Amino acid sequence: MLFGREPVGNDIDTLAVVFDIPAMNQAFAPPHALTDVATRILALTEGETDAVALMATMACELFHSDDRFDWVGFYRRTGPEMLKIGPYQGGHGCLQIPFSRGVCGAAARSGQTQLVSDVDAFEGHIACAASTKSELVLPVFGMDGALIAVLDIDSDRPDAFTASDAAILEPLLAQVFAQAN
Ligand code: SME
Repeated sequence: MLFGREPVGNDIDTLAVVFDIPAMNQAFAPPHALTDVATRILALTEGETDAVALMATMACELFHSDDRFDWVGFYRRTGPEMLKIGPYQGGHGCLQIPFSRGVCGAAARSGQTQLVSDVDAFEGHIACAASTKSELVLPVFGMDGALIAVLDIDSDRPDAFTASDAAILEPLLAQVFAQAN
């Protein structure tokens, strides 16, 4: 599958461990800054399958949860190689991003998380805001395992994101969007 992943039967087992709070606190000592918001997002979105409702809730909760986050939003896959703006929080976001461009395009193209510590060093970075210094962009897969969106988190601080942020957000997205339509 080019822009998706094979449905993985054991995702939920993995997530049950990841979102077990004592296990998380053991894995991240001190507890990871995103633990609380991840738990809140899971509670708020439980049983919801509408993709836009899920994206709006997650963008809002993440944006207000962490001082590092200056823009949080989703770009939705609207065509074979096209992303368009979805629910977001922060300043104006550009409306369209082809798969061939930007950090978001790279995440959509590869199906892999993009952790960019210095946006100026990323060939083809799209500067929606001149203040952005670093970015974390994660692919979002829907219920058939196909790519439905990317989650873009931007910071005005250089090198704001760590691999442990991705380690929390990847399974969180998998669980929240597992039944999204
Ligand atoms: N910087 C992103 C574009 C989206 S905006 O920053 C909101 C990119 O290079 O894909």
